[in-house]
Amino acid sequence: MQRRGLTLASPAKINLFLRVMNRRPDGYHNLCSLFQAIDLVDILHFSLSDSNLFTINSDVIPADHNNLVVKAVETFRAATGLRTPVNIHLDKRIPVQAGLGGGSSNAATTLWALNELHGRPATIQQLMRWGGKIGSDVAFFLSEGTAYCTGRGEIITPMSPLAPQSFWILKPKEGLSTPEVYKKLAIDLLPDRNPKASLKAWVGGKRVLYNDLEQAAFAVMPMLAALKTKLFSYGFTDIIMSGSGSALACFGDGDLPLIPGVDLFPVKFTNRAADGWYA
Ligand code: C5P
Repeated sequence: MQRRGLTLASPAKINLFLRVMNRRPDGYHNLCSLFQAIDLVDILHFSLSDSNLFTINSDVIPADHNNLVVKAVETFRAATGLRTPVNIHLDKRIPVQAGLGGGSSNAATTLWALNELHGRPATIQQLMRWGGKIGSDVAFFLSEGTAYCTGRGEIITPMSPLAPQSFWILKPKEGLSTPEVYKKLAIDLLPDRNPKASLKAWVGGKRVLYNDLEQAAFAVMPMLAALKTKLFSYGFTDIIMSGSGSALACFGDGDLPLIPGVDLFPVKFTNRAADGWYA
C-alpha cells in the first residue's frame, strides 16, 4: 500500500577536503571533494493532500519558488508527470549561508519523499540526475552519506562509511554568499594538492583536511580567519571551513568556551542504509 505521509530528517554535510581544479566556460568550477553527511538535520513533513501547501518555521527563508524544496517538487513533477498535490512543512535547524548544504539537502529529501509517496517510480540514479539540475550539491545527499564528488560536485563516486568521528560545527551569525566567495578565488595561487591521495588517506583512517575556498572566504569575511586562529589557541588541532563557509568544522580535544556571535553544534558523521533514508 502506498503511504500518504512521511516525516524525514534532512542532514547537513561537510567537505572533508575540497580542491578546486579549474574554472569552466559556464562559470562554474570543477571540484574534487570528499563530502560527508552529518547528524545536524532539518525535519521535513510530507503528506499527499487535496491542495498544495509549503510552510517553513523561519522568518528569513521565504517559502517561494526560489526555495529548493519547491524546485524539487517542480522537477519531480516535470520528470514523472505525477502531480498529486502535496503539503510540505520544513522545520529549519541547519544554519543558512554556512556551506553546510542545507537547501540542497532539503531538495534531495523532497525528491526522495515524493518518489516514496508515489510508490518508487524512479531509481536513485534518476533522482540524482534530476537533483544535479537543481543545484551542484543535491545529488550528494541522495548518496548514502559519504561520497567523492567531482564536476560541479554533482558527479558522485559513493564511498563506504568512514570511521566515526564526533566534532563541533561553529557558525558565526554572519553568513557567506557562495558566488561571492568563488569570485574572490585566486585559482593560480592554490597549492597543488592531489585529491586522489587525500581520498586514499581517509580510506586508510587518516584525517586530511583542506579547503581551497578558505582563503577566498577569509578575504570576504576576515573575522572567520581570526576565529580559526582562536580555535587553534584553545587546543584544537584540525579546523576546516565547510564548502564556501561560513561554518567551521573543529576536530580534536580542545576546550571550547562559548564565543559571542558564534553558534555551536556538537555533530558526528551519519550515513543512511541502502534502502532507507537518514535517521
Ligand atoms: O549549483 P549551485 O546553485 O549550488 O551554485 C551556486 C553558485 O556557486 C554558482 O552560481 C557558482 O557561482 C558557484 N559554484 C561554482 N562552482 C561549483 C559550484 C558552485 O562556481 N562547482
